[in-house]
Amino acid sequence: MIGIFDSGIGGLSVFREIRKVLPEQSYVYYSDNAHCPYGEKTREYIIDRARAITRFLLEKGCEIIVVACNTATAAAIATLRDEFPVKFIGMEPAIKPAAQATKTGVVGVLATAGTLKATKYIDTRARWAENVRIVEHIGQGFVELVEKGITTGPDAESTVRTSLIPLLDAGADMIVLGCTHYPFLSETISKVASEAYPERNIEIIDPAPAVARHLIEVMVEEGVQTASKEGFHIELHASGDSATLLATYNRL
Ligand code: DGL
Repeated sequence: MIGIFDSGIGGLSVFREIRKVLPEQSYVYYSDNAHCPYGEKTREYIIDRARAITRFLLEKGCEIIVVACNTATAAAIATLRDEFPVKFIGMEPAIKPAAQATKTGVVGVLATAGTLKATKYIDTRARWAENVRIVEHIGQGFVELVEKGITTGPDAESTVRTSLIPLLDAGADMIVLGCTHYPFLSETISKVASEAYPERNIEIIDPAPAVARHLIEVMVEEGVQTASKEGFHIELHASGDSATLLATYNRL
């Protein structure tokens, strides 16, 4: 059984990709929406939440855990790996493919405050930023919108515009989605980008497919055998209200 968790429904954007490549596995998904957003919380707070969720997923019988949250990966994955005898797969902002593909030489990154200030992110950026300029912006209000189930329409567009336009004005042609909630706003991000710079070929990069491929590699390497004895099933849990989780899952 594969455990997946996030501060909310964002991790479903990763689950969607994992399920494409591993359709016959059993899954337990945990949305910590009673404590969402993680983006502005302290590292210690996020580590405590990640520990509690990991215990829950292990009690459920998960043999491998995907931290489907960039903020929790940056804050807590090292501690989780030290403390629990199970493999953890984390999120990486897709700066490398963006740096390789940019034509303007400018890569834009959208992420939470927690991710952008974490050492893990700063190190990744330093590794790939040699020949390109990297510009960043917090996706202000993005997580809250997605948690409300609002991903298109005028409110979504004006929220996206505020954080995205500064990156486009700086010349970015690659927009890296550094938070797992943001892929649910992809359609709106594309619309805002093409309206603002119709002549520029702007690409939106979601790391979830790469994370799904990495999960398979690790499962093969480690011989993780996750076939469930009770047969294939999917469990969805939320620490708060589960309405958006269920509605979003049904639309995946
Ligand atoms: N989905 C999250 C991430 O990938 C966290 C968003 C939040 O809770 O602020 O960073």
